[in-house]
Amino acid sequence: MNYRHAYHAGNFADVVKHVALVQILLHLQKKDTPFAVIDSHAGRGLYDLSSDEAQRTGEAENGIGKLHGLKGPEVLERYLSMVEESGPGTYPGSPLIAAKMLRPQDRLTAIEKHPEEAALLKEILSPFRKARAEEGDGYARLIAQLPPPERRGLVLIDPPFEAPDEFETAGETVRGAVRRFATGIYLIWYPVKSAAAARAFCGEVLTSGAGKVLNIEVTIDAPQGKLASAGLLVLNPPYGFDAAMHEILDRIAPRLPGGRARLEWLRGEA
Ligand SMILES: C[S@@+](CC[C@H](N)C(=O)[O-])C[C@H]1O[C@@H](n2cnc3c(N)ncnc32)[C@H](O)[C@@H]1O
Repeated sequence: MNYRHAYHAGNFADVVKHVALVQILLHLQKKDTPFAVIDSHAGRGLYDLSSDEAQRTGEAENGIGKLHGLKGPEVLERYLSMVEESGPGTYPGSPLIAAKMLRPQDRLTAIEKHPEEAALLKEILSPFRKARAEEGDGYARLIAQLPPPERRGLVLIDPPFEAPDEFETAGETVRGAVRRFATGIYLIWYPVKSAAAARAFCGEVLTSGAGKVLNIEVTIDAPQGKLASAGLLVLNPPYGFDAAMHEILDRIAPRLPGGRARLEWLRGEA
């Protein structure tokens, strides 16, 4: 486990993933009934963009660094205000964003395998009564916790994809998860290092049988050797999610170097 998200926090891929996360959570808040969020690969929850790791890659400059002051739909402004609230020169990760959006009846389980990251995550989530950090394997723990008793909620699967068989493991986990919790909303992130591998992963996820599958891919002109393209698979997205993301990406993409985005229904609602 060499991957450390501190090198990548706030990059273009994080920005798109986190805006989608906020959009889904705002939708879940529309009903009073409780929801659960399970974040299987949570990271440490808060990143210092002036750290050696962040400065070494400079990735945040081509992501959140290009978005300050951007005005737009409520979701985008809500996301940007959460980034601002996290403090100067810092960037909030998915578990902190989710924790801040819980109501008293909702709950978050954030799982992180790396012991140091998990310890930091526990500290970051400690002020949030309804958020729990767990140290362990996100794939196994996710499956063990499905379906959530609330029968309503979001599963975020955001692995590092560093192991050679991680696409297979992630695909298999999605299939197992959807079998147990077919009505859940799933937000699944993947890197596009090879178009063929990305397509194969999308195909694997489709075999889960999820009724509605939306695919978003965002590409930038990245420096040589850096990730230039990343995707999201959203299973059972809320009604109107595609149009909302379209509008947001139309605002974000032009700010990113060479930024372009593609949204496509792989199954359901076209
Ligand atoms: C891409 S980062 C997560 C970023 C986070 N979701 C966010 O958006 O802020 C992936 C994280 O997964 C952790 N990780 C790696 N293998 C894992 C596993 N099997 N189970 C849980 N976490 C794992 C890594 O240590 C890393 O912190």
